[in-house]
Amino acid sequence: MQYGYFDDQNREYVVTDPRTPVKWINYLGTLAFGGFVDHTGGSLICKGDPGHNRITKYIPQMPSSDFKGETLYVRLRQGTGFRLFSPYFVPTLDPYDLYQCHVGLGYTRIISEFHGIRTAVTIFIPPGEERVIRDIRVTNISGSPVEVDLVPVVEYTHPDALKQFTNADWVPQTMQSRVFGEENGLKVLIQYPFMFRDTRINYFTSNHPASSFETDRRHFLGENEYGTWAHPLSLEQPELSDYEALRGDNIAALLHHLGALLPGETRRVITQLGQAQSLETALPGVRRFRQEEVVDQAFGNLARFWDDYLSRLQVQTPDADMDRMLNIHNPRQCYATMNWSRYLSLYQLGLGSRELGVRDSSQDVLAVLPAVPGEAKALLRKLLQVQKRDGSAMHQFNPLTMVGSEGDSLEREDRPHYYSDDHLWTVLAVTAYLKETGDLAFLDELLSYYEKDRAGQPLEPGTVLDHLKRAVAFTRRDVGAHGLPLAGFADWNDTVNLPRGAESLLTANLYGRALLEMIELAERLGDSAAAQAYRADYAEMKQRVNDHGWDGEWYIRYFDADGSPLGSRTNTAGRIYVEVQAWSVLSGFATPERAHMALDSVRRILNSRHGIILSAPGYKGYDPARGGVTTYPPGAKENGGIFLHTNPWVIIAEAMLGNGDRAFEYYNQINPAGRNNRIEEFECEPYVYPQNILGREHPQFGLARNSWLTGTASWMYTAATQHILGIQPTYDGLRIAPCIPKDWDRFQVARAFRGAIYAITVENPVHVCHGVRLISADGRTIAGNLVPAFADGQVHQVEVLLGGG
Ligand code: GLC
Repeated sequence: MQYGYFDDQNREYVVTDPRTPVKWINYLGTLAFGGFVDHTGGSLICKGDPGHNRITKYIPQMPSSDFKGETLYVRLRQGTGFRLFSPYFVPTLDPYDLYQCHVGLGYTRIISEFHGIRTAVTIFIPPGEERVIRDIRVTNISGSPVEVDLVPVVEYTHPDALKQFTNADWVPQTMQSRVFGEENGLKVLIQYPFMFRDTRINYFTSNHPASSFETDRRHFLGENEYGTWAHPLSLEQPELSDYEALRGDNIAALLHHLGALLPGETRRVITQLGQAQSLETALPGVRRFRQEEVVDQAFGNLARFWDDYLSRLQVQTPDADMDRMLNIHNPRQCYATMNWSRYLSLYQLGLGSRELGVRDSSQDVLAVLPAVPGEAKALLRKLLQVQKRDGSAMHQFNPLTMVGSEGDSLEREDRPHYYSDDHLWTVLAVTAYLKETGDLAFLDELLSYYEKDRAGQPLEPGTVLDHLKRAVAFTRRDVGAHGLPLAGFADWNDTVNLPRGAESLLTANLYGRALLEMIELAERLGDSAAAQAYRADYAEMKQRVNDHGWDGEWYIRYFDADGSPLGSRTNTAGRIYVEVQAWSVLSGFATPERAHMALDSVRRILNSRHGIILSAPGYKGYDPARGGVTTYPPGAKENGGIFLHTNPWVIIAEAMLGNGDRAFEYYNQINPAGRNNRIEEFECEPYVYPQNILGREHPQFGLARNSWLTGTASWMYTAATQHILGIQPTYDGLRIAPCIPKDWDRFQVARAFRGAIYAITVENPVHVCHGVRLISADGRTIAGNLVPAFADGQVHQVEVLLGGG
């Protein structure tokens, strides 16, 4: 079963059957202005912050057939009556002759044919603009002339997205709409909650005269809303009521008469949905974007942004699904996660206090560095400014107000209110940024720590380097009975919430990895005393992990407050957890023998055809002593589900051990593109990674949810490009250390790095997984496997030969 196909040439996925198992979405714009559009035209648009400045009302929990945020009606005049349908399929659900939703880079184009009318609508946000464009082309493909009306509709939400759902009197009392009519019949519909009347308005307009409009949902649907979105009663009348809503559920609908279209004739109407301080400030931009050339140019600029973004790393491997993910869809998903963190998707609803996570965003940064280092740096600055003076970090923060919170840890009075890992991810993110860019000056930049005085002024600044030092110093101090890091409320696995005093082996290994980065950085900065001190810390923690953490065939995951192990063969549920097996290799703590045993245990116990399971067996009932993990049924989410984020860690670990076949097998088995032909069990978009897939213990094994916003995106990209293909940015250049399937003959990578292009060809004539035999750059042999940072704006041919000898 499939619902569409990949069009690699146009860098699109094309949905051909709108009845997908769940909505499949695409992201538009950025967090500054943007959101998502689903494959049936519904949209959720925000400015700056989905919680406090949301524009359209999109309620994912309503059935897929329902109107959500926006739609478009086409009305054909037939005799004395009308035929009404939506070219997006939803909400009228008419039988269509053709339906295609082209999920493109920063745009969605819905092309459909209903009742002799072909409609092509391109939906996008021009780069840097605060408006959504819907560029609508309507063509008469029937044999006779037909009179066509076009009615685009938007439904607004109160900007405070949560309040919209908590008060059904206050919200409608504040919502108001007005019309600004221009001489030529053009109209701008303005909408605001009363309090923002003079400071912040939403507007909806088009470049075609509108004969009438509607701003009240009740009027539009008719009969006290016993009319429906599928059959709005107002559209049975020749004109809309021209009502300017003084309260209520505000919408914006414009009725355009396109006149009689002859067979083959096309009309183009461009709508804009945007936000501005006032009508006056909006008008110049509105007028510009009514011009077709301006819209065409903006669409060209969008394509150029993505050309540039993707051009930083392009691959050609023997695997077509890997190529389409690495060249198009995976880096695109990484841009979405960097923008939206875990904040706004079909599943993460952007309500309440979820906001940006320090741990999550630090990992999201890892994969966008080659393409948008400036944006990554701006995000790093924010992340470092929610770090506290003691070196730990606030768990999450609002990107507009920069107010942080302790997140879900506040739910339990009796548990620590910090996470043991958050601050350590920042060390990985900053050092990855430095290696990509060489921008060591960033280390000297002064950024404040989170704590403020009564006037809201930060209490203490510190250099970026000082922030990193305090991060590892916090974990060095914050240890428990075995000298292992205390777990805090949780570590990466948010759902295992143990009593105060519990220790985390994952945090121990993450700390080890962070120390390796600090050692390398200190050496780089010529600070041998610091390097030596970090080496001693590293050796100490390595010793503790190996003295206490080995269970016989794998590493233990936690020590509970009473000293008993979790993730051990002595447990009945949760006997083995995957994270720590992979991270004991990433940290370099595992001895070679233990590393192999741990990963073999993962393969034997946790691997499945849908991916590697997080832990096994699942907990079979709620246990307040273990916390959130036991609230899920066995096989779901962190309780024995395939929590995909962990899979790339295993891939990296396998690659570090030289197991290229396994690394690729694990990569391949969760490649969503490879599921396109049997998507019915997976259900989510085949062009992005989901956060979770139900595990073996669940009756719906293989079902994915929470697509798009997941750390899986950046780690899969990192695992594939840096560890399978093995192109690794370092302080001095690109290290080439592939670990590929033996049967590959060759692959190519074009990589932009510090202002030069590396056209890398890797040949594998004797069929090994790894082991560089020879490298040459521009015909000259290089000793070792480090290709220097040429930084000269030129293209350099790098030939790599794998194989012993
Ligand atoms: C979610 C959270 C992430 C956490 C993971 C595992 O993806 O966003 O921070 O690490 O769950 O619990």
